[in-house]
Amino acid sequence: MTPQERVAWLRDEIARHNEAYFIHDAPSIPDADYDAMTRELRALEAEFPELRDENSVSTKVGAPSTNLFKPVVHQETMLSLDNVFDADELRQWSTRVAKSIQRDPESLRFAVEPKIDGLALSIVYVDGSMFQAATRGDGRVGEDVTANVRTIRNVPRTLSGGPRGREEVRGEVFLARDDFLEMNRQQIALGAKEFANPRNAAAGSLRQKDPAVTAKRPLSFLAYQLVDLDGALSFTYYSETIRQLGDWGFLTASESRLEEGAEAMIHRTDWFQEHRHDLRYDIDGVVIKVDDLAQRALLGFTSRAPRWATARKFPPEERTTRLLAIEVSIGRTGRATPYAVLEPVVVAGSTVSMATLHNQDQVVAKDVRPGDLVIVRKAGDVIPEVVAAVREPGKRRARKWTFPTSCPECGQPLVRRDSESDTYCVNPTCPAQLLEQIVHFASRGALDIEGLGEQRVAQLLSEGLIGDVADLFTLRVDDLAALEGFGELSATSLVREIANATSMPLSRLLVGLGIRHVGPVAARELATRFHHLAALAAAPLEALEALDGIGPVIAQSVYQYFREEDNRERIARFSAAGLSLDEPGGATSLEATLAGKVVVVTGSIEGYSRDDAEAAILARGGTSPGSVSKKTYCVVVGEAPGAAKLAKARELGIPVVGASEFETLLATGVWKDPLA
Ligand code: IVH
Repeated sequence: MTPQERVAWLRDEIARHNEAYFIHDAPSIPDADYDAMTRELRALEAEFPELRDENSVSTKVGAPSTNLFKPVVHQETMLSLDNVFDADELRQWSTRVAKSIQRDPESLRFAVEPKIDGLALSIVYVDGSMFQAATRGDGRVGEDVTANVRTIRNVPRTLSGGPRGREEVRGEVFLARDDFLEMNRQQIALGAKEFANPRNAAAGSLRQKDPAVTAKRPLSFLAYQLVDLDGALSFTYYSETIRQLGDWGFLTASESRLEEGAEAMIHRTDWFQEHRHDLRYDIDGVVIKVDDLAQRALLGFTSRAPRWATARKFPPEERTTRLLAIEVSIGRTGRATPYAVLEPVVVAGSTVSMATLHNQDQVVAKDVRPGDLVIVRKAGDVIPEVVAAVREPGKRRARKWTFPTSCPECGQPLVRRDSESDTYCVNPTCPAQLLEQIVHFASRGALDIEGLGEQRVAQLLSEGLIGDVADLFTLRVDDLAALEGFGELSATSLVREIANATSMPLSRLLVGLGIRHVGPVAARELATRFHHLAALAAAPLEALEALDGIGPVIAQSVYQYFREEDNRERIARFSAAGLSLDEPGGATSLEATLAGKVVVVTGSIEGYSRDDAEAAILARGGTSPGSVSKKTYCVVVGEAPGAAKLAKARELGIPVVGASEFETLLATGVWKDPLA
């Protein structure tokens, strides 16, 4: 792999994990691995400046918001924190900090605080009354969760003895351990699904459509930052701001300490590592902040994090247990993932009985075999993994495990393509894939069809009522009501839920289709640029590649998807079933006059910037790449056109249209022959 390919791969991967973590509240890899990937990406970008990109995930904080809530633009960007991973790195950090403000590390004062594993929240108060609460989102724009935050019991509605003007309080929303356990007990009592861990449960609880649901969840808020929006207050030390927050009625971390000098600070972080399980809440590290605000001002920020603070992350936790068997599961893309069935063991606070082995190469490299004693690692609260086998001298081991050659679900051969580390079941009618695809289609980040979980989908498949996602829209109450576990009421409500899903925006449908490499971020970009599914389906490859944040891999995958007969048929069925297939907002009221047409613009057109002209074409379903090809419908020529484009148009016999015809072209979708 060239550095360029590696950077592209890392950016794709990180974006994918961001989506899983921030949008679905379901992390896909251990934090430590995620951190390693972002570090590698930054290192490569530093080494090869030509590969830098201001849109790189390395410069972003978190993930963009979903469209459940109103967007809120933060007055001041909500930054992230840089990380260090052990005492030595922390010492180097403090040396760097001290040096850049010409001080001795032992002369600095640091605040050392727990890094609570919840989600960041900003609350704005106006004249001492709660005004608005928002999630972090991508750091710049978050989601308006005011109604939900009003239900959190320890968030003050008014600041006692509060100030005039605007104050912003930032902190973490979390579930204390006890509250989390109690909440899961209730879930079990209600016959509902248990939550995987406190962080996911807190995130899911805060981002509820109905505040009454949030109100039932025992969320807490801990404040760790005061942003004095009007500059009305004056503080010399960070520790004074924290005291102020406490006086206003906020919970602040009782374990926080001010430490004089780097060594004392490091010592205190060791204490946190040792006592991490004795705290009331889950922490994934320690935050270290320079206390002196004048020193902070000198240190400043990078694009994503302050230079005056860092987080010391804890290493993932490991335990040993017996490996009972190795099995293979088939996901919605057909990927066959080997996993370990384990003798249950408690790791990082929860019981683990299964762990991923990632892929064939990993099993070979680790040489783990059924019957082995293995080390299991769990970082944060993601899927646990098997690290290695523990050698037991004198003990006979089972034979080397070999990857199955056929799909455990459908019996068809498993295929591993050259240069890929993953193995796939390529049978398009494999029932396991179909099941996962339909479950994904109905999931919260996609069409959000309540009541259509794994069990229900499996039932509908085995009853032969559905064989494709498009069949969902033909289900009738009578068909369902006759099934076991259904009644008239639940059948009616499922059919109603499915009918409601037909008005979902295009971006959510795109997520639901599960096009390879297309997650919520790419889906939204595609949907807002093309507006209509028909326009997207007809888009030439170059037009897809030209979009922000859509790399060649995603572009190719989208292009390919719409060239496959089955997929075209499915879309025709969606359309027949009355799905909306477009993205609301902005230009949707425009007619798709240019659907599938490629219009190249050269030179400037009066009243339009380069981007405006392109946007106008896209908004009508067309595309506007930067070069002329056989597929070009016509070339619009403005002031000072490019000679190369004109020559190319002439060579290929592509019509050349004057700028004065641009409006007509947009309105009617056809160019007017000047001779006609
Ligand atoms: S300070 C500009 N303090 O960790 C500094 N963050 O990885 C902003 N977090 O987004 C953050 N405990 O959600 C700070 N005591 C603490 C924290 C804390 C948890 C979270 C926060 C932040 C993330 C960065």
